[in-house]
Amino acid sequence: MAAETTAPTPATAPQGTRKRILTGDRPTAKSFHLGNYYGTLANRVRLQDECESFFLIADYHMLTTRMGDLAEIGRNIRELVIDYLAVGIDPNKTTIYLQSLIPEVTELFLYFAMLVTVPRAQRIPTLKDQLRDHSLKEPTYGLLGYPILQAADILMVKGDLVPVGRDQESHVELTREIARKFNELFGPVFPVPDALIPEMGMLPGIDGAGKMGKSLGNAIFLTDDTETVTRKVMGMYTDPTRIRATDPGTVEGNPVFALHDAFNPETAEVSDLKERYRTGRVGDIEVKRSLVVALDRFLGPIRERRERYAADPKKIDEIIYSGSARAGEEARRTLHEVRAAMKLDYFGL
Ligand code: TRP
Repeated sequence: MAAETTAPTPATAPQGTRKRILTGDRPTAKSFHLGNYYGTLANRVRLQDECESFFLIADYHMLTTRMGDLAEIGRNIRELVIDYLAVGIDPNKTTIYLQSLIPEVTELFLYFAMLVTVPRAQRIPTLKDQLRDHSLKEPTYGLLGYPILQAADILMVKGDLVPVGRDQESHVELTREIARKFNELFGPVFPVPDALIPEMGMLPGIDGAGKMGKSLGNAIFLTDDTETVTRKVMGMYTDPTRIRATDPGTVEGNPVFALHDAFNPETAEVSDLKERYRTGRVGDIEVKRSLVVALDRFLGPIRERRERYAADPKKIDEIIYSGSARAGEEARRTLHEVRAAMKLDYFGL
């Protein structure tokens, strides 16, 4: 892959030829798992070939709830970039950048803050979730502005499409309102972006109890080694009514088969296993062993890339700096237009 040998110089096709996507993550100490890959990361890897892509690491957003524990953000940023690269985000195709290296976004945030009423910001449903998750009684002024800052991220690079989870839909809706309102007041500067919400079904956890999630303790992580994957898969929940290999089993809703469907590219093998499972001609052990093989094949290259990048922290910083330089150009271009449209360019800014 070119990304590994050459210095990252993201594609700079003129805007208009390809749709532009902007998405991002906060640098929390997350570890991506198979559910994250299936639900969002795979889609992002695919999109970088079709669209001009920008991925932002939203460290300013961390300030909205974490003023007390900011010390680990620097490490989380590098880990997040390593995760992106490990799953196949290619810095030659995607501009990966750090929000705080482009402080211009705060200026756009300021202008946008004047276009959103307080009750409108208070109606954003994620606000309640944030208050609850962080045991806060009242939002700070900054937390109330969280989705407005996100709108500034998106519109700063004039994103057309925003690939996010359903939980972020209300933020993209607010972004659309801000874009329309700005354009109405000052002239057509911004595209009105669309949220791109993957329609994937959810990936169940290894306990079969529901969605795979880090906090549920039922996840297989992209960083799990072969031994851990084997242990987790061999202990997975299957069809509880099935006692012997000769009992007919249920494939639908069986998490072992859900993982086969999502991660085993050998479709003929998967169909054969399902057929034999339904008719009581295969044991759970065989089905699980073949899942271990499939997952290990999938995770192998991810582990390898992760190790290679983790061993080269200078390279990671270089990717962040050059992506941020590129995004910074977009930011300055947009702000120039914004100030001109708002007639704030009175000193030739
Ligand atoms: N709020 C997003 C999240 O928590 C992170 C984010 C910040 C983002 N700015 C963005 C996502 C812009 C998409 C576009 O997941």
